[in-house]
Amino acid sequence: MADDTSIFIGASRKPDDSYQRAEELLLRYGNRHGLITGATGTGKTVSLQVLAEGFSNAGVPVFCADIKGDLSGIAMMGEGKDFLVKRAGQVKLDPYQFQEFPVIFWDLFGEQGHPIRATISEMGPLLMSRLMTLTEAQEGVMNIAFRIADEEGLLLLDLKDLQALLANMADRADQLSARYGNVTKPSVGAIQRTLLVLESQGAANFFGEPALRIADIMRTTRDGRGAVSVLAADKLMMNPRLYATFLLWLMSELFEELPEVGDLERPKLVFFFDEAHLLFEDAPKVLIDRVEQVVRLIRSKGVGVYFVTQNPLDIPEKVLAQLGNRVQHALRAYTPREQQAVRTAAETFRPNPDFDCATAITQLATGEALVSMLEDKGVPAMVQRTLIRPPSSRLGPITPDERRKIIAESPVAGQYDQAVDRESAFEMLQKKTKEAQEAEAQAQQQNSGGSRWTIPGFDDVLGTSGRRSSNRQTVAEAAIKSVVRSVGSSVGRAIVRGILGSLARGR
Ligand SMILES: Nc1ncnc2c1ncn2[C@@H]1O[C@H](COP(=O)(O)OP(=O)(O)OP(=O)(O)O)[C@@H](O)[C@H]1O
Ligand SMILES: [Mg+2]
Repeated sequence: MADDTSIFIGASRKPDDSYQRAEELLLRYGNRHGLITGATGTGKTVSLQVLAEGFSNAGVPVFCADIKGDLSGIAMMGEGKDFLVKRAGQVKLDPYQFQEFPVIFWDLFGEQGHPIRATISEMGPLLMSRLMTLTEAQEGVMNIAFRIADEEGLLLLDLKDLQALLANMADRADQLSARYGNVTKPSVGAIQRTLLVLESQGAANFFGEPALRIADIMRTTRDGRGAVSVLAADKLMMNPRLYATFLLWLMSELFEELPEVGDLERPKLVFFFDEAHLLFEDAPKVLIDRVEQVVRLIRSKGVGVYFVTQNPLDIPEKVLAQLGNRVQHALRAYTPREQQAVRTAAETFRPNPDFDCATAITQLATGEALVSMLEDKGVPAMVQRTLIRPPSSRLGPITPDERRKIIAESPVAGQYDQAVDRESAFEMLQKKTKEAQEAEAQAQQQNSGGSRWTIPGFDDVLGTSGRRSSNRQTVAEAAIKSVVRSVGSSVGRAIVRGILGSLARGR
């Protein structure tokens, strides 16, 4: 049975359907990642819930997205419904105890949980381009925008900062092209328009401050249980790109910010990536490669990543190869394509002579799965037909009232609820424009009424225009320098970007 070195997930059965043995996830291999797959309604979310409960009880904080709202029940005590009690008996879960878990609700829109934010600077050009589905040429311009921001000390916190910077870039496109390469007004304009779309989809809530502190999703309770961070994702799923990019950013933040720890007795955090296919759909190869790299390397930071999706084929092979702990629920096999998918899914397991894997996958009942966890020496165990245990917390959603109460009592209550809009690119560029305009007005005044002397007929040649533009440049330069001086110290050291181009905040 489960002890403090493993999580009990269910009972495997012999060919004659009788009880075989307890199936467990070994906590010391919890950072070797995992995969939960299966068709709609086959039991993926419940399996996720069972694993999340197990990790939390073992003191491991968990982060997961709640796509349909049905995972929120993990915050409440379970109830002894007949079918659950029956299942508990089948898997010899005795006693079957009920429990509520320490949940922190999060929501990018700030409605179903504490707002969760990141700054544009932290997100970086690679993820921003992915989020906005930019073309390669536009991505080039986005890279230049971030370089300019870094070099000129312009803080990109929210969407309006990026808008302001892009507008500014369009104004000096020629000058920038000479320095950085192709920056055309149309390409900048195209990015600006995509930003407006993003804004209309509600992404403005997400970009800004206070940005999420990683420490806040790594909390434990006084009685030694890991916090379960549940991200409300029902509304978010209407913008799948934002959902996927956000989780990717969070994963890369964890990777950049957490220290190297090697293999531990148990993970420091477990991260569930539901609807994981969204992450890879039409993703450019470079992004897939980087994700693969982060997944591979994040292990030694003590973070386990568990992908949840319908079919293992949704996950690129190189990433799939990293996922050690597997729970495969039933798949349908009506079309030839589905049959092929079933065979491929079957081939990812270490075979069991007792049954044919491909056939079994199509016959599994709800809440039953083919399970293969890493065993001694981190080798995948022989695959077993396993009945998954029932959860200890509530199966299904919590009520709005219950949610409100939990949000009010949360350890981060009040910390993120108000957005803060401090001075950043938008304000700085506004100030710069104003200064330049004032200088221009001053120069004009000097040229006309300000000076007593003039050379008749030569004004146009020596002209106000030449003098004015050089004057304007000096003022602009001075403004940039002062900005770099005041902000440079905080931004300067942070210019180094991680694998996914995100910016690790100094701790
Ligand atoms: N381990 C289990 N013990 C008892 N009942 C279960 C178990 N797993 C699944 N069920 C039953 O099956 C139902 C569907 O399971 P679940 O919501 O996990 O499916 P899913 O694969 O996440 O579906 P979807 O793809 O639609 O999100 C549950 O509401 C529950 O009634
Ligand atoms: Mg589900």
